[in-house]
Amino acid sequence: MAGTIPQHFIDELIARADIVELIGRRVPLKKAGREFQACCPFHSEKTPSFTVSPTKQFYHCFGCGAHGTALGFLMEYDRLSFPEAVEELAGSLGLEVPHEAGFEQGPDHRPLYDLLDRAADYYAQQLRTHPTARQAVDYLQGRGLSGDVAAAYRLGYAPPGWENALKAFGGDNTKIARLRDAGLITEQDGKRYDRLRERIIFPIRDTRGRVIGFGGRLLGEGKPKYLNSPETPVFHKGRELYGLYESRQAEANPPRLLVVEGYMDVIALAQFGIRCAVATLGTATTRDHLEKLYRATSEVVFCFDGDRAGRDAAWKAMLTALPLLRSGRQARFLFLPDGEDPDTLVRKIGADAFTEKLEQSLPLSEFLFEKLAGQVDMDSIDGRARLGELAKPLIQQLPTGVFRDMMQQSLNDRIGLQTKAPATQRPPQPPRRAPRENRTGMTPVRRAVALLVQKPGLALLELPQGWQALDAPGIDLLADLVATVRAEGELSSAALVERQPDPTTRQHLSRLAVIDLGLLDDEDEQFIGTLRGLCQEQRRAERDALLAKSQVELLSDEEKQRLRELYQAQGVE
Ligand code: UTP
Ligand code: MN
Repeated sequence: MAGTIPQHFIDELIARADIVELIGRRVPLKKAGREFQACCPFHSEKTPSFTVSPTKQFYHCFGCGAHGTALGFLMEYDRLSFPEAVEELAGSLGLEVPHEAGFEQGPDHRPLYDLLDRAADYYAQQLRTHPTARQAVDYLQGRGLSGDVAAAYRLGYAPPGWENALKAFGGDNTKIARLRDAGLITEQDGKRYDRLRERIIFPIRDTRGRVIGFGGRLLGEGKPKYLNSPETPVFHKGRELYGLYESRQAEANPPRLLVVEGYMDVIALAQFGIRCAVATLGTATTRDHLEKLYRATSEVVFCFDGDRAGRDAAWKAMLTALPLLRSGRQARFLFLPDGEDPDTLVRKIGADAFTEKLEQSLPLSEFLFEKLAGQVDMDSIDGRARLGELAKPLIQQLPTGVFRDMMQQSLNDRIGLQTKAPATQRPPQPPRRAPRENRTGMTPVRRAVALLVQKPGLALLELPQGWQALDAPGIDLLADLVATVRAEGELSSAALVERQPDPTTRQHLSRLAVIDLGLLDDEDEQFIGTLRGLCQEQRRAERDALLAKSQVELLSDEEKQRLRELYQAQGVE
């Protein structure tokens, strides 16, 4: 992506985009009054609390709080970066994204993606046509794989030889540099050669389906058994999950995703119709991995060896998951019998028995408490107290909410504490869609900002004199927003939000944009009234300060003049 995208273009995109159509293409929407509804694509639910507003050009979920503009939706749902979302939206509207020269936003990776995609095609073709491909096909068949599954995962074959890819894709220096950037060739002592030779090839795809790297397995025994692409500008092991794209192709909103260790585990399960497995690429599960997973599903089942190393790895995965487990998200653990991996196990016991094991896998709470209970003497009071101490910091990692309260309750039960109220201290949650609740705790400025974001046209009204000079938190933002609308003419809520350069501000405004202010149609009065009220308050404070000062010293002429003005203004009010 070369250069920055000019703001006017983003405005135009937002103005032209139809969020209902855009989301409707991905999620089935039903009309409900002036808005559209669906079951939320970002969390699992049975009754729809996800709404899309054509007038605000915003989506909002009353269940999980997900919200944003058309661009925000693309970023969340299609897992795109901001520039990628702009490209995508522009493309769907038939617009070309202009780039302002000068300020480099980052290199353009398109040639790299293109090369990786052609390389995947090349390896797949070698699997069909190379004179030595027979042994690769035999190997895959020997592992029970069908042509369909091989095709769904774009499996390929790197034939023997040091320069196959180099010859197929090399040439001038640019092409060679690109092969190196893609991780397809290695250079040593001035010599270049193919990284992947005589191996089964597993293309690794990102959530958009773009090939970003490869894994290669030896046909026989030897070392290293698997060779993966190195970190490249488009491939980061700590973020990518093998098989996630393919899982979502099989089912857009899978009820659960299964985390396994290896490429062959993912593929063998797919062969048995269990098409929801993903593999970390030879690394521990990271927070980035989990965030990606919980965007795609609400339940993650971790599959580990039942041995000591497997249990330790599961514990680490659990620690990583805790902060992400807001209510509605689940984590479970499946420990495999000794010497088995999902590949061997599913072949031994079949899909139904494997699925049953998944369903009976250990909920996070049990895994956590069982492991801790194993470290203390649960028969003694001291031991149970110790369990409380060990569990406390873990429970505190959980986001506040029902799940955390339940964990605390479960801990209390285990250690024999009698409590009625949930132990985590937090104010009671306001009921959903309760405008009065939302209204409380809002400062007048905040409310004015919310009104303005929801109805940007308010900025074009005649506003009380001098409000910009008010000394209240948030006034600068409000002034900024008013100035933007006045400079641009009437903007939509979404455009106004997307214009904010600071992501935290965007986040804040997006929230205010969908908050229920309990309005009918007196926004104009409310907005002006709020500002007028603030100005009055400020004048009163200033007058009182001047009066107090006049008690102790003589006021200057300017101060006396100001005091008169303040009294006059009060007379008008
Ligand atoms: P395993 O050694 O458990 O292999 O590695 P596997 O998945 O059971 O493979 P098969 O069944 O023998 O074909 C698990 C994962 O660890 C990474 C790979 O991602 C592999 O799928 N790994 C393993 C490597 O990256 N390099 C290696 O040399 C071995
Ligand atoms: Mn295996």
